[in-house]
Amino acid sequence: MAQLEWDQVSKSFGPVVAVREVSLIARDREFLVLLGPSGCGKTTTLRMAAGLEEPTSGRLLLGERDVTHVEPRDRDLAMVFQNYALYPHMTVYDNLAFGLKLRKTAPQDVRRAVEDTAARLGLESLLARRPRELSGGQRQRVALGRAMVRHPQAFLMDEPLSNLDATLRAETRVQLKALHNQLGTTIVYVTHDQTEAMTLATRIVVMNAGVIQQVDTPEAIYDHPATQFVATFIGTPGMNMLPALWGRVSGVLTAIIGGQRLPLPADLPRMHAAAAAGGHAATLGIRPEHLRVAAVPETGTPSLKARIRLVEPLGHETLLHLELDPDIALVARTPDRWTGGSNSPVWVSCDPHRLHVFDPVSQVAYEAV
Ligand SMILES: Nc1ncnc2c1ncn2[C@@H]1O[C@H](COP(=O)(O)OP(=O)(O)OP(=O)(O)O)[C@@H](O)[C@H]1O
Ligand SMILES: [Mg+2]
Repeated sequence: MAQLEWDQVSKSFGPVVAVREVSLIARDREFLVLLGPSGCGKTTTLRMAAGLEEPTSGRLLLGERDVTHVEPRDRDLAMVFQNYALYPHMTVYDNLAFGLKLRKTAPQDVRRAVEDTAARLGLESLLARRPRELSGGQRQRVALGRAMVRHPQAFLMDEPLSNLDATLRAETRVQLKALHNQLGTTIVYVTHDQTEAMTLATRIVVMNAGVIQQVDTPEAIYDHPATQFVATFIGTPGMNMLPALWGRVSGVLTAIIGGQRLPLPADLPRMHAAAAAGGHAATLGIRPEHLRVAAVPETGTPSLKARIRLVEPLGHETLLHLELDPDIALVARTPDRWTGGSNSPVWVSCDPHRLHVFDPVSQVAYEAV
């Protein structure tokens, strides 16, 4: 078991900077998930750890050992890819045994290791089959088994579930989580699926354009996003962003959003610090589930007048697409059915303690600085 460290690692492909000064530690026994949009550098980050891609600068450490220039096969890491890359002409047994035989493991040890791995993954009855005789989920388990059988120091997984259909993906996700609990090995896992990241990760690394945006537990990433990018990328739909101006109305700090006034209570230190530091403008963030929408204004509750543009009933919840004015759209998520019509005026309110505040220029959260 070991920790894996990227120390100031960058990678360029000609003029393209794929990964920019990534410093990151996957701790011993951690399930670390790299999450971000397509092209943000997740695979490149993982492949450098595996030794399949050489960093342009920086170092990779496995435990205390500098492995930057060590051959992939001497790193003692196992990689699981999206396309399972099984040997088509070999049985499941031989696919599992291949790496061990290559390392000249004693035959009885090979058999024991293969049987043990097959039992953990529920593959015992499939050992004589060839890959084409397996379902996608079974193939994926063989690919996992092939990585597990050697007991590597850490697993590197690149979107291993993305070829499975939604049901199987959800099932395999649960199995993978159970397997991690059972084996207690370090896993570095790449995905662009935030549900996978939220459910599997000990910590999530959110990347964008080759740069790490935030590293934290799933809860902290959701509750305290460090940047506007993280806030809008995590959550479905993502956090609403409202351009605001600061004002004082009769001495009360007030956010002015699309010309409407939202007075803010005195016990919001972040908000007051942002108003003091941020000049005239701010960006306020609010998650769709933290908005309340009413057909009539509630007395005593500060609210903003909006118009319903579209109602999306999802069965267990309803998404209300709103606009404060033609330039400011937002989404509210409510567990209730919406009985009012669309295109009708509504009043939107929220607990002001649920508001996030971002610097409109740097797009960094005030709570993070
Ligand atoms: N071998 C290569 N040659 C040139 N550019 C590359 C190469 N590999 C990756 N890139 C570029 O580097 C950037 C990061 O690619 P990478 O594959 O790491 O992204 P990713 O986050 O894994 O994306 P995806 O979610 O689509 O798999 C992209 O702009 C990509 O086009
Ligand atoms: Mg990729």
